[in-house]
Amino acid sequence: MSNELITPNGGTLVDRMVHGDQAKSLADAAGSMPSITLTDKQACDLEMIAIGAFSPLEGFVGPEDFVSICKTMKTADGTAWPIPITLSVDDDVKATLSEGGQAALHHRDGTLMAVIDIKSIYAHDKALEIPSVFRTEDEAHPGVKAVMDEGDWCVGGPIHVLTVTPEHEPGEQFTDHRLAPAQTRAAFAEKGWRTVAAFQTRNPIHRAHEYLCKCSQEICDGLLIHPLVGETKPGDIPADVRMNCYETIIDHYFVDDRTMLSVMPAAMRYAGPREAVLHALVRQNYGVTHFIVGRDHAGVGDYYGTYDAQNIFDEFASGDIDVIPLKFEHAAWSNKAQGMVSSKTFPKLENDQIFLSGTKVRDLLAKGERPPAEFSRPEVADVLIEWATSEAAAPTA
Ligand code: ADX
Repeated sequence: MSNELITPNGGTLVDRMVHGDQAKSLADAAGSMPSITLTDKQACDLEMIAIGAFSPLEGFVGPEDFVSICKTMKTADGTAWPIPITLSVDDDVKATLSEGGQAALHHRDGTLMAVIDIKSIYAHDKALEIPSVFRTEDEAHPGVKAVMDEGDWCVGGPIHVLTVTPEHEPGEQFTDHRLAPAQTRAAFAEKGWRTVAAFQTRNPIHRAHEYLCKCSQEICDGLLIHPLVGETKPGDIPADVRMNCYETIIDHYFVDDRTMLSVMPAAMRYAGPREAVLHALVRQNYGVTHFIVGRDHAGVGDYYGTYDAQNIFDEFASGDIDVIPLKFEHAAWSNKAQGMVSSKTFPKLENDQIFLSGTKVRDLLAKGERPPAEFSRPEVADVLIEWATSEAAAPTA
C-alpha cells in the first residue's frame, strides 16, 4: 500500500481557502452582504471544511445531503458521511438571507472568516438529526443539547474562506502543530511512511492510550497522535493542558522519528459510533491508512455500548471507507501480567486490573497526588497536577 495513494474521502482533497486579489475583492463585497455570526462549533466546522479535512464537503450541507446523511450515513451522491455539517440560523437571521444570494460569515469576535454562496435555506429537522446521529433524544447528552440549542433553519452552500484565525480571540492556535491534510500528507511522504496509524483523543494521555498507540506502531510505519482541539464540553480538560501531556509523553516514552503530533481543529459531538466513522474519514483525508478505535470511542456517559463505535464500521460496504479501523478491546494494567492487557491477551482474574474513573483521577490530581504509575506516566501526571492545582482549573476541577 502506498500512502501517497490513499484517496481522500470522495476522491479529491478539498481546499476552500481563497488568497490574494480574490480574497481582497471578496472581503470588500462581504461588507454589503447579510451577516451570520458563527457559533464555536460552526467556526470549527468552517475550518475543517476550509482545509479539506471534511472532504468531500465544500460547504455546509443542503437539504438532500442532510436527509441522506441522517438516514443512510452517506451524502446524496453515495459518499460515506455520518454526521450532517450544518450552518443553522435562527428566524431573525433567516429573514435577512435569500437563496441565490451570499452571506458573510463572522467569528463571534467580529473577524470576517468566509462568504457562503447560499444554495438552500431549509427547516432544521432536529427530529430527524438527533435520534439518527446520537441514538438518543436525551437533552442531558451534550451533543443532543447542542443541536437542540441551534437555530431552526439551515443554510446550505459552498464557502470561500478568507481566514480560519479569529483576530481578537485567537485562543489556542497551536500553530506549530496545526497541519492541514495536505501538510500531513506531505510530512508522511517526506518521512517515507507508507502506513500511518492515527490516534484520536480528547483526553490527557494515559497508559491504555499509550498501549493502543504502541500496538499500532508495531504494525504501521508511523503514528500520528492527533488530538481534537476544537470545542469540547465544559469539564473536559483544556486543549493546551492536554497538548503539554502529549508533548511530555512523546519526549519520554515514544520514538521521535516514528511519532508525529498534530492537532485536529474539529468540535466534539460525543456521538459515539457515528462520530467514530467521522473521525476515521477525516483521518483518511489527513492521509492516514489506519485509525485507532478503542472502547466507547467518542462516547459520553452510558449512551453507547462499549464496542458500538467499532461495530458501526461493519455497516459499510468494502470500498466505502478506505482507512482501516484498528479495533482495540478495553485495555488496562494487569498486576499479574505486569503489563497492559485486554481480554484478548490475558485471562480476566479477580481484582487484577487497575481501572480508575475520571472522577477519581481528577480528585487525586486536585489534591496534588499522582494516580498510580500503572494508570498514568508520572511525567504526565505532573503536568496534570500543575494544572489541577492552579487557578486555571478552579472552575472545573
Ligand atoms: S475519545 O472521545 O477521543 O474517544 P479518549 O480520548 O478517552 O476519548 O479516547 C481516545 C481513544 O482511546 C478512543 O479510540 C477510545 O476508544 C480509546 N480508549 C480510551 N481508553 C481506552 C481503554 N482503556 N481501552 C481501550 N481503548 C481505550
